[in-house]
Amino acid sequence: MTVAELVDLRSDTVTRPTLGMREAMAAAEVGDDVYGEDPTVNALEAEVAALFGHEAALFAPSGSMANQIALQLLVPPGEELLCDADAHVVTYEIGAAAAYGGISSRTWPAVGADIDPEVVARMIRPDGYFAVPTRAIAVEQTHNRGGGGVIPLATLRELRGVADDAGVALHCDGARIWHAHVADGVSLTEYGRLFDTLSVCLSKGLGAPVGSLVVGSAEKIERARMIRKRMGGGMRQAGILAAAGRYALAHHVDRLAEDHARAARLAEAVAPFGVLATTVRTNLVPLDLTKHALDARALAAAAREEGVLISVLGPRTARLVTHLGLDDDAVTRAVAVLTEVLSA
Ligand SMILES: Cc1ncc(COP(=O)(O)O)c(C=O)c1O
Repeated sequence: MTVAELVDLRSDTVTRPTLGMREAMAAAEVGDDVYGEDPTVNALEAEVAALFGHEAALFAPSGSMANQIALQLLVPPGEELLCDADAHVVTYEIGAAAAYGGISSRTWPAVGADIDPEVVARMIRPDGYFAVPTRAIAVEQTHNRGGGGVIPLATLRELRGVADDAGVALHCDGARIWHAHVADGVSLTEYGRLFDTLSVCLSKGLGAPVGSLVVGSAEKIERARMIRKRMGGGMRQAGILAAAGRYALAHHVDRLAEDHARAARLAEAVAPFGVLATTVRTNLVPLDLTKHALDARALAAAAREEGVLISVLGPRTARLVTHLGLDDDAVTRAVAVLTEVLSA
């Protein structure tokens, strides 16, 4: 089976640049971005800052680096970040907040997008000599390990109030904030005004090969530029990559609705086999296999035999993800394979 024949549902990061995107990359005007002289990077940064109603933005090589730059902006060494136990920043970023920022983190129990602002408010520790002071709260929109769940706007507003009352900052890991925008119809500016900093990704779902941005005030982004350089993230003729990002923003945001519809189709198809996938709102379909005879590894291996790739997240947890590289026919094939394997 060739790579093109596989239906790859492992992640929305497996997409390849489209022809139009490659043409935009090839035609990009470039310069040395460490000197601030790449016109395409500068245009992308201005565009993304404006989308979120902030003063400035900074292009970074990855979502992890964008998150970690933002956290270092908000939390001094030895002080504290609050987030949920399943947050990407404390689950998949290999201890970067502690290793690079000296940041102490404390988590509320993993509840995906179902955050209770009062629980968060009670965790905040004030400035002072006796305990580690809380400096920032981070949330994830949409929530990756929370099955692509969307934090409701009302909850985010309450959290903003909690942060303001305590004088702490609010960060959004918005790797897939585009999906929340499309699912809930909340404008990016509305989201933007709720946060001190955001990190947003162009390479998850939007289909760019590389690239994320940190968004915030002009003063913060000036400091962010220093932190990025310190972390080795200063790039030279990065306009080739920024052009892909600009193309993705122009062509691949509204179409996320198609990915959401295909994810809902997959969720519906597996539901009769006792596989819990009921809360699907966006492009991530978590499979809870606790009540099924197959565990996650066995399901993934059997599906792979038939040309369908899925992610194993835990012994009885798997995940399907829809994206730009899949059309209705691919999802039809995936439905056929998964229903056959699950009913065997
Ligand atoms: C919610 C979330 N934040 C951040 C990242 C990190 O992005 P990157 O892989 O570009 O470092 C990811 C990656 O999948 C993610 O899902």
